[in-house]
Amino acid sequence: MGRRAGEARCSTIEAPDTEIKPAGPGVLRPCYKPRVPERSLVEELEARVRARPLPRHVAIIMDGNGRWAEARDLPRVAGHRAGADAVRAVTRAARRIGVEALTLYAFSAENWGRPEPEVGALMHLLAEFLESERGEMMQNSVRLNAIGDLERLPPSVREKLASVRAETAANRGMTLTLALSYGGRQELVQAARRAAAAKGPALEESDLEAGLWTAGLPELDLLVRTSGERRISNFLLWQCAYAELVFTDVLWPDFRDAELFGAIAQFQARERRFGMTGAQVAERGE
Ligand code: FPP
Repeated sequence: MGRRAGEARCSTIEAPDTEIKPAGPGVLRPCYKPRVPERSLVEELEARVRARPLPRHVAIIMDGNGRWAEARDLPRVAGHRAGADAVRAVTRAARRIGVEALTLYAFSAENWGRPEPEVGALMHLLAEFLESERGEMMQNSVRLNAIGDLERLPPSVREKLASVRAETAANRGMTLTLALSYGGRQELVQAARRAAAAKGPALEESDLEAGLWTAGLPELDLLVRTSGERRISNFLLWQCAYAELVFTDVLWPDFRDAELFGAIAQFQARERRFGMTGAQVAERGE
């Protein structure tokens, strides 16, 4: 039987999980069919994660848009468009449960090397997103922030960014940071230059940290990467120092509240020792 347009090619089932499933040899990515959990299960999971200490700052490497589209015989841009829907859903869910900061890797410094039509389509989607989400950000008290080499963005995106950032600046519900034209090494170089100019060889960790684009955000607690890749890819290199890492095989366009809560449940099940022993952590009641 032929497939309908937009239908995925594959049949292997992988749960949008609370467990990590390493992709073993022979596992064909993106050959999986997302299992859409029943709403009651998602609500149960939401209640569970709300009952325990939440990560204050969650960052996500949103990967797999291209493979999601290819699996449906759609152009890559369709994957990015579906990815923008996931951004909306995940932002809403993070705000609802009380995450203070959500940082999304929307366009890397290296992504400028992609074919020009794809870069153009991504920029167009971004501008569209900023315009369409403005109202909801205000309603939900979400402050928009952006990090990266923003000067490289086309004027249409820069202008929208500036105007939505200004409009949402006083919102305190959650900070949504879009990493755009972002590279972790580039961020570190500019922070080091600033700190060295101010302090010279006497510079300390705190001076460097103050020059990062993420200055003012809570410390990163949880980094999630979708699509089965297990790399950091130049994202938040300094900030990852003590973050918990969660990798899932789910492709970004399929990522929704259930997957976010699943990643948070994994975070909550871990013991964060920050270099201490387990006994020391237990003693301090953390
Ligand atoms: C990686 O998938 C994703 C990107 C390079 C762009 C992320 C963009 C979005 C999620 C949509 C627009 C963003 C906003 C904030 C509205 P990939 O293309 O590398 O996927 P592949 O590895 O399967 O090819």
